[in-house]
Amino acid sequence: MTTMKRIQYHQYGGPEVMRFEDFEPRRPGSGEVRVRVRAAAANPMDWGLRGGHLKVMTGRKFPRGVGNDFAGVVEAVGDGVTRLSVGDEVLGLAGIKASGAFAEVVVAEEEGVVKKPANLSWEEAAAIPTVGLTAVQAMVNKGKLRAGQAVFIHGCLGGVGRAAAQIALMHDVSVAGSCRGTAIEEAHGLGITPVVDFDFDATKLAGRFDVVFDTAGTLPISAARTLLRPGGRIIDINPTPAKFVRSAMPGPYQVLMAKTIAADIEEAARAAGKGTLRLPIARTVPLSEAIPALKELERNRTPKGGKLIITID
Ligand SMILES: NC(=O)c1ccc[n+]([C@@H]2O[C@H](COP(=O)([O-])OP(=O)(O)OC[C@H]3O[C@@H](n4cnc5c(N)ncnc54)[C@H](OP(=O)(O)O)[C@@H]3O)[C@@H](O)[C@H]2O)c1
Repeated sequence: MTTMKRIQYHQYGGPEVMRFEDFEPRRPGSGEVRVRVRAAAANPMDWGLRGGHLKVMTGRKFPRGVGNDFAGVVEAVGDGVTRLSVGDEVLGLAGIKASGAFAEVVVAEEEGVVKKPANLSWEEAAAIPTVGLTAVQAMVNKGKLRAGQAVFIHGCLGGVGRAAAQIALMHDVSVAGSCRGTAIEEAHGLGITPVVDFDFDATKLAGRFDVVFDTAGTLPISAARTLLRPGGRIIDINPTPAKFVRSAMPGPYQVLMAKTIAADIEEAARAAGKGTLRLPIARTVPLSEAIPALKELERNRTPKGGKLIITID
């Protein structure tokens, strides 16, 4: 196959290690598809992986591509691929181990790739996979929320928080949450109520929620416990070794590491196709100019007002 372009790095490190370079895309292996990328979306995990925070999974083989979420067109399929065919318009994630979505071409496992709803643009589709998958798994699979129940989302206007709020509301779960004080009206506009500032007093909302979902990893466990109804669950997606230990112990506290499950990405994609899941796009940049935008996003995390999308013509 001909040489393509992607954002990659030759050693773990800060934003300065990213390079826009040629690479040789590989053939899709068994159970994999190769996708011609049309748009890709940035997530905080991208710079954690590049920083070497998950070396156990990402190894020491370089160069490594950057980026997880993408939308594009399937251009080759490996043995055993049954759900997808060449020419399908798809959205998906490359996975922690492989990464490499900020590229003209990416290889991903079929399980992480689903068909794109026809009414979504490439940019809208690329915004979905990681935050949609995590939101579905937090609210439905791990949170087990049912109609009539209540969830509190700490960081309800971030990518995952916003997606989780909309997925919960779709299941007739009432949603309360915290955000930056200046954005409270925006959260109300999504149907979230009450909405409080990040440093809220949990005793004022004591005992009201079946699930407390901490998307920011900053809510003290004591505050989360105060918010819970008896039998409720606390879900945290920002694990540390100490949090994993706590999560393994009996009690309401659980760490969630999202798993690549096509049905969950499909649920989020369907909701986006219907317009019930909306993820705002803050900025769109072409692949050749994406490194400065990624550096800026990483340096100046908040407030972003939506996803950074990278486009490829
Ligand atoms: N375990 C998993 O499987 C998994 C999956 C996906 C994501 N994650 C992790 O989850 C985190 C959130 O991801 P994301 O995509 O939603 O990121 P994001 O879009 O950057 O959102 C982060 C949110 O946290 C808010 N925030 C900032 N400071 C806060 C504070 N002190 N208290 C409460 N909230 C605060 C931000 O608000 P402002 O924008 O107003 O500052 C923003 O709404 C990231 O660390 C990501 O790596 C984990």
